Amino acid sequence: MLFETDGMMDQQKPDLEQLKQDLSAAIDVATGLDTLDAVRVHALGKNGVVTNLLKTLGGMSPEERKVEGPRINGLRSEIAGAIEAKKDALAAEELAERMASETLDLSLPPKDTPKGSVHPVSQVMDELAEIFADLGFAVATGPEIEDDWHNFTALNIPESHPARAMHDTFYFGENQMRDGMPMMLRTHTSPVQIRTMTSGEPPFRIIAPGRTYRSDSDATHTPMFHQVEGLVIDRDITMGHLKWTLETFVKAFFERDDIVLRFRPSYFPFTEPSAEIDMGFSVENGRRIVGGDPNGPDGGWMELGGSGMVNRHVIAACNLDPDEWQGFAFGCGIDRLAMLKYGMDDLRAFFDGDLRWIEHYGFSALDVPTLSAGVGA
Ligand code: PHE
Repeated sequence: MLFETDGMMDQQKPDLEQLKQDLSAAIDVATGLDTLDAVRVHALGKNGVVTNLLKTLGGMSPEERKVEGPRINGLRSEIAGAIEAKKDALAAEELAERMASETLDLSLPPKDTPKGSVHPVSQVMDELAEIFADLGFAVATGPEIEDDWHNFTALNIPESHPARAMHDTFYFGENQMRDGMPMMLRTHTSPVQIRTMTSGEPPFRIIAPGRTYRSDSDATHTPMFHQVEGLVIDRDITMGHLKWTLETFVKAFFERDDIVLRFRPSYFPFTEPSAEIDMGFSVENGRRIVGGDPNGPDGGWMELGGSGMVNRHVIAACNLDPDEWQGFAFGCGIDRLAMLKYGMDDLRAFFDGDLRWIEHYGFSALDVPTLSAGVGA
């Protein structure tokens, strides 16, 4: 159809109406930008039919040009306009087609599935929960932002008590008081003892693992660290139960039967009597190992945590009768337990967020510690 018009150009009086219909039809049927451009070149290109018609104006008489000029120019702009309009239509069509065919399946997993792993501290907390659950302990929690009463006063540390200075406490400002009490980041997990005793009926048997905060920072101290608190309150609890519980715990945790504990007299305001607990270590293959003979060559004692019989003042502060209820409490650092068991030597790296570290020391999310399968790695 398009090429029939070619012949007409040679005629003296080309049929502009026919040419216009032919070109319009060719524009209409163009199915893509390529074919449309071919029509444009054919009509308006350097040697296009309409271009050539324009060239004939030069050879016309002025009268003739007056008539033919506007006709041919009109044709040129009409065709150019039609081509532009068609171009827009084709582009819109193409976009609609792409939108319909190129779908994104958001339910597909990304190609490189990020693996993720469980932080050793979380792993150890799970191990603690598993070991102590077997001994009949529940897991208790408390807020990390504590008030003065739970963190100190109820634990037999009144305001002027020198023990307050032992904790480098992060206090909130004076405009952040609650019920007239200063607020702080808890300096230990011991306030969970108070929250447990004030919110239920004895007997109690809980552990409380969690974050704690002190303004302290070097290779073995970070401002945020982790502790696990233990609390047993019943009628006939003694230091003997405390020692057996801790021994049973460390043997299960380090998966060795030859661990000995040593109780050293100490002082905590919330326990009386108080004892610091040490674990015996020895050296195997050039590495310090919890267990073995602490009196052998290179052997010795390392600290596990603090403990004691819950002070009567603490029991009374929780509205329990200290003549009826008594028990023991202990608290130890979780981060160091993880370091000893899994062999890291810099505590700060625990909280650096370095992916290489967590890929190396992390645990598979499916590697859930159980006593039957082993709580070790
Ligand atoms: N809260 C003590 C500390 O952070 C540890 C402890 C807990 C001591 C329970 C005795 C009993 O140092």
